[in-house]
Amino acid sequence: MSDPAQYAALRERGPVFRTVIEGLESPVWFVSGYEACKEILHDARFIRDESKLPGREGPSLAEQMLGAVGMPQEYFKYFGLLSTSDGEEHTRLRNVVARAFTARRVAALRPHLEQSAADLYATLAAKGGGDLIMEVGYPFTTAAICDLMGVEEADRPQILGWIMDLVSYNPEQLVPAVKNIVGYYRDLIARRRAEPTDDLVSELVKPGGIHRDLLAEDVIISIFLLLTSTGIAPPAHFLGQAVLTLLTHPGQLAELRARPELLAKRAVPEILRYTTSVPTGGPLYAAGDFEFRGCPVRHGDAVVPSLLGVNHDPARFDGPDRLDLSRDPGPGIGHLAFGSGAHYCTGAALAQVQTEIVIDTFLLRNRTLELAVEPDRLPFFDVPGKGTALGGLPVRL
Ligand code: HEM
Repeated sequence: MSDPAQYAALRERGPVFRTVIEGLESPVWFVSGYEACKEILHDARFIRDESKLPGREGPSLAEQMLGAVGMPQEYFKYFGLLSTSDGEEHTRLRNVVARAFTARRVAALRPHLEQSAADLYATLAAKGGGDLIMEVGYPFTTAAICDLMGVEEADRPQILGWIMDLVSYNPEQLVPAVKNIVGYYRDLIARRRAEPTDDLVSELVKPGGIHRDLLAEDVIISIFLLLTSTGIAPPAHFLGQAVLTLLTHPGQLAELRARPELLAKRAVPEILRYTTSVPTGGPLYAAGDFEFRGCPVRHGDAVVPSLLGVNHDPARFDGPDRLDLSRDPGPGIGHLAFGSGAHYCTGAALAQVQTEIVIDTFLLRNRTLELAVEPDRLPFFDVPGKGTALGGLPVRL
């Protein structure tokens, strides 16, 4: 479900309720209440790794989904590294990924991001316009992730092509893309072992590097596949959604132009909350029989956190369906668009800085950008299990 208005009726059934989601066979606990969701995401009785449930047999939900798109079994090991692990196993691997996104590394990246946004703006302006997602979002997010990991400039168009194949969700393109990405990273690891540089690949393969134990090559490949698949396409589409949100709320855009100091601390969190471009968090499973907020939860029950629903919960946000760029987000970042707890998005700091820079470059410093088509002609596409996403954003400037 991608439209927050649909949540009003659902919310009458309570912050947590049992339902069958379209496309799935078994019922799940659906969470659309902000406080309940936050509690669940911090409660160790709800786990991510379904295969660890005692008595559990057969393929996990994640394995069923990979099988359904024709992914060969020997590639399953490269998926779900963080999102479907718990406890110490999750913490150990997450710490490795988190090293790529320390405040220091993200701050060091800022001048590159600003330059990259300015260059992309100049190229688009010289043509009089183009597609903001394909011609700005993708090259911008690809450059950031490739800079962090150490993928050379010459190889980036190839990586971008494979990412496009991944987001086609077409098995005929998706499976070869995964094989190519895995092969590429295996080769990159071999090159950095032979000749280390100061990039993340080199740090991960060198003995005594940023992790305690030497990581197996397959684990390093899984980390890079995870960063490549989460750090490029979803933020690229979100950046388009963020610009669209401002263009379709001209009063709010005018206020932001008059008060640019709102951008980083108020406007960016509010746009993230309002759009919640990843509408549901990863599924959780009850590791026992217990009562949660009056609900009789049973061992193995699946729980789906509706991040879009909770970010539009009127019990937490005043007038939740209204975009208010001066809204005080409250403690922390306020919204749950990046999840919360142990699985909080590791790329959140990077995504926020990227959003700030794109809005600043394309809408505040330069003010001629406008939609090149009517909003109701914009292309949306289905993201399996996650609702719909904006496929392109034609603009003139
Ligand atoms: C606006 C852009 C982004 C949004 C809205 C977003 C949102 C999310 C959400 C909702 C989750 C799952 C939380 C859960 O299941 O409880 C997540 C996890 C994750 N995100 Fe992001 N994300 C964004 C950008 C990025 C970027 C740029 C990266 C960097 C590579 C990234 C890397 C990850 C990773 C690795 C996880 C898994 C964390 C774990 O399970 O421990 N994300 N993100």
